[in-house]
Amino acid sequence: MTLRAPPLALYVHLPWCVRKCPYCDFNSHAVPAAGLPERAYLAALLDDLEFAARDCAGREIVSVFFGGGTPSLFAAESIGRILERARHLFRPASDFEVTLEANPGTVERGRFADYRSVGVSRISLGAQSFDDERLAALGRIHSSRETRAAVEELHAAGLDNFNLDLMYALPQQSLEGALADLEQALGLGPAHVSHYQLTLEPGTAFERRPPPLPDDESAFAMQEASASRLAAAGFRQYEVSAWSAPVRECRHFGDYLGIGAGAHGKLTHPLAGAVVRTVRVRNPGRYLAAPAPEARVEDTRRVGADDLAFEFFLNVLRLVDGFSAAGFELRTGLPWSSVAGSVASAESRGLLRADPPDRWAPTPLGRRFLNDLQAVFLPDPTALAANTDRGGLALPTRIG
Ligand SMILES: C[S@@+](CC[C@H](N)C(=O)[O-])C[C@H]1O[C@@H](n2cnc3c(N)ncnc32)[C@H](O)[C@@H]1O
Ligand code: SF4
Repeated sequence: MTLRAPPLALYVHLPWCVRKCPYCDFNSHAVPAAGLPERAYLAALLDDLEFAARDCAGREIVSVFFGGGTPSLFAAESIGRILERARHLFRPASDFEVTLEANPGTVERGRFADYRSVGVSRISLGAQSFDDERLAALGRIHSSRETRAAVEELHAAGLDNFNLDLMYALPQQSLEGALADLEQALGLGPAHVSHYQLTLEPGTAFERRPPPLPDDESAFAMQEASASRLAAAGFRQYEVSAWSAPVRECRHFGDYLGIGAGAHGKLTHPLAGAVVRTVRVRNPGRYLAAPAPEARVEDTRRVGADDLAFEFFLNVLRLVDGFSAAGFELRTGLPWSSVAGSVASAESRGLLRADPPDRWAPTPLGRRFLNDLQAVFLPDPTALAANTDRGGLALPTRIG
């Protein structure tokens, strides 16, 4: 199998939050009573980074994403230490981008300027809603006033390249309410909007005691109306939940190193013709207690040919622009003929449309019934639920 290594990114997971939100199934945990173990975790991350880099040191790196949990609980100095080490181990690309996720309830005055001074170039802010009643129902630690103040701080720090996370189909939300949220978000001048439908995830407090949510038809109406409004505001949908102003699309789908508790990584080894996935120990306490870097690795596995093809489709079927046959062969090292029949079948069911000579993209129907479309490419159809996360992404991070 001949593979070419795609661009490399680094994902850093910071797993603590002020408090756990009742809808959230990320690997996030309330800060322990003894306080945030910032120094110990920073030391573990630096060690983990050195270890992860052994297989790819010196490679060009296009981006770093600090995700969580709530990375904005960590001081700029800690974030800067990780970036410094990453710059030392890899070659930053000319348009190297560093994103940090922030919760509006954790960013006191001056904090964004500090992050920028250590190299953060983009912020992803968890706004969720601008209706204080909705925010309370979601168990958020901040009000809409704090979100606006955080955005003012972003502009003051010169961090105009920011994303706002919004959720819709919230408890007792109306169509008008969802659109009002979007209007307020657009008024703050984001470069990118991640617009997620609230889902009831297994193991969350909301799953155990579901709040009154809008029905599927109402949720779909919110999605459609929001899509029109975002498009009218000049945003382009490039992924199921991601909208960006021109040239602000967040880059992914390449190789990534994942460090920190529960982080996933994927690395192409062109010479060996292999793609290897790694998962770090999920529990932050166990991650911290690991006596050696190897002990922080929960799982390492070589991705088989069937899985490579499926993962390719899991990712590209979320993209509005779809995929090409040449891209499939380049990324998976497999012949197009191995999947041409499945592509034709999805096309005949109206889930994909051809864009000759060699591109295909999901139709609106395919986007709406994404799970059905993805299932067409599944080696074992019963495995879909196990392989997809909220958005069906085989990626370590949200797209914000
Ligand atoms: C790691 S959080 C962002 C940063 C920070 N922790 C915060 O919440 O402000 C990632 C995003 O995923 C989205 N999210 C989390 N759980 C969700 C769910 N059950 N349904 C839909 N979106 C969800 C939220 O929009 C959230 O902002
Ligand atoms: S949504 Fe964000 S703040 Fe809330 S628990 Fe999840 S990661 Fe933490």
